[in-house]
Amino acid sequence: MQAPKNSPTKSPVLTISHRTPDGKSAFPVEIPQLGLGVFLMKEDDECGNACAWALENGYRHLDTAAVYENERAVGAAVRASELGREEIFVTTKLRRGDALGYDATINAFVASMNRLDIDFVDLYLVHAPPEDREHRSGVWRAMEDLLESGQTMAIGVSNYGTHHLSELMENARYGPAVNQIEIHPWLQRVELRAATAAAGAVPMAYSPLARGHKVNDPGLGEIATRLGCSPAQVAIKWCLDQGCITIPKSSNQARIIENFGSIEVDLSGEAEALAELDEDYLSGWDPTTQP
Ligand SMILES: NC(=O)c1ccc[n+]([C@@H]2O[C@H](COP(=O)([O-])OP(=O)(O)OC[C@H]3O[C@@H](n4cnc5c(N)ncnc54)[C@H](OP(=O)(O)O)[C@@H]3O)[C@@H](O)[C@H]2O)c1
Repeated sequence: MQAPKNSPTKSPVLTISHRTPDGKSAFPVEIPQLGLGVFLMKEDDECGNACAWALENGYRHLDTAAVYENERAVGAAVRASELGREEIFVTTKLRRGDALGYDATINAFVASMNRLDIDFVDLYLVHAPPEDREHRSGVWRAMEDLLESGQTMAIGVSNYGTHHLSELMENARYGPAVNQIEIHPWLQRVELRAATAAAGAVPMAYSPLARGHKVNDPGLGEIATRLGCSPAQVAIKWCLDQGCITIPKSSNQARIIENFGSIEVDLSGEAEALAELDEDYLSGWDPTTQP
């Protein structure tokens, strides 16, 4: 399936910020709502090519992580792009194994910056709730200091459940700007999205295609046929329409372009059919339910 003829040139943009204890919003920053995820891309031509194709075709947001072992390729693609650094939004994440307290977090951030070799990060995420609960407050304090120092424009969390968010907000100087969690039509997560919003954060939908497991879902296919778009575009647009920052992964040039074309899809007549797809289907890990 091809991208719609009038391929969009720009992703919608959201403003994210950090809630302070007095209920104000600090360090607001604009984030392109649709980005490219680079999980499982090898740090060679695969990741570099995918980032370059994405940037050439309208994407302005790349989502990597220390644990993906491809930050060097992402940073190289940003530097090689004709776009200015300020025009590209880069998200990376603190490896769970490095979330061992204040100093370990700062050191891991510096190591990511060295691999990326760019002047600043736009969004730095705690990849999952630190396994040792004793480490959680030190990790978040380091994240807050990185935000205040301007080395990252925004900070957030990933795979945080409602209880992790509440615990974090008890002592936070700044709340997370986003909570990156698995979200797609088969795992709609209404309650966790509401808890994320209640902490002042925007949900960031990872695995919007359920890691590719659901692109052949017959119900999704029927919607796509009615709308004259591809199944993947329906799933991605559903996430965008829920107000989620959305980061589908593809290493394939045509699918990278196709996925960006989801912006133009109009799902307004399909709310009921999409609501029916929800089946609590988890395609990956789920630290949100851990203590
Ligand atoms: N924070 C976390 O814990 C976490 C966890 C998982 C993912 N993420 C982030 O979210 C991003 C996306 O999630 P994901 O990589 O797990 O899965 P995904 O985006 O849901 O799905 C990717 C899979 O779908 C295929 N695909 C992509 N576009 C397609 C299309 N138009 N038609 C058919 N198949 C298509 C891809 O294959 P091809 O590449 O061959 O096109 C790949 O196999 C990741 O890359 C990562 O940045 C974060």
